[in-house]
Amino acid sequence: ITKPNLIFKDDLLTGENIDRLTRKLKDLGDIFNDKAAFAQMDGETVVYDVESSFPVAHGTEGGLFYGITYIHPGKVGQEYFMTKGHFHEIRNRGEYYCTLEGEGMLLLMDENGNTRAEKMIPGSIHYIPGNTAHRTANVGEQILSFSAFWPSDAGHDYGTISEKGFSEILIEQEGQPVLVPNIKQ
Ligand code: PA5
Ligand code: NI
Repeated sequence: ITKPNLIFKDDLLTGENIDRLTRKLKDLGDIFNDKAAFAQMDGETVVYDVESSFPVAHGTEGGLFYGITYIHPGKVGQEYFMTKGHFHEIRNRGEYYCTLEGEGMLLLMDENGNTRAEKMIPGSIHYIPGNTAHRTANVGEQILSFSAFWPSDAGHDYGTISEKGFSEILIEQEGQPVLVPNIKQ
């Protein structure tokens, strides 16, 4: 993984309060729709890595966290490699994403189940409003990396998405990423 040329002040992403997380295909069984294609793939394949900096304790009101996500290129059937996706535990907390490298799509779903997508290109900045589930997919042929900034009391709620998914899924059709209704819902 080539690291983007960022300059970290103090110990942001280099010091003690850092979390590194790797999610492999075997950790993501319930997010991909094509179970047959999934079964053919090596569960040890890395889908994404996240490095986060926690300058204050989890749950602190008023602080901010910072992290970089690196999603590898790949697909399960027609579906692109993507993150699990989540609402924030404190539902109204928002977040910013800023794309560093690669090409992606940010899926956003409000609490009424309306899903939309924003194109991610290097330098694009994305505001994720509160009460909105978010997931990112790598639609390119290289690593997609983006930085994220979120409130330290936001928390992650994976439950709703792992049960029902998003109302639309992002698949490749004729070489292009398109949103189609999620038949699972
Ligand atoms: O805070 C965020 O929204 C991101 O840092 C995500 O946690 C990261 O992209 C990984 O996605 P997920 O938490 O849905 O596995
Ligand atoms: Ni988030």
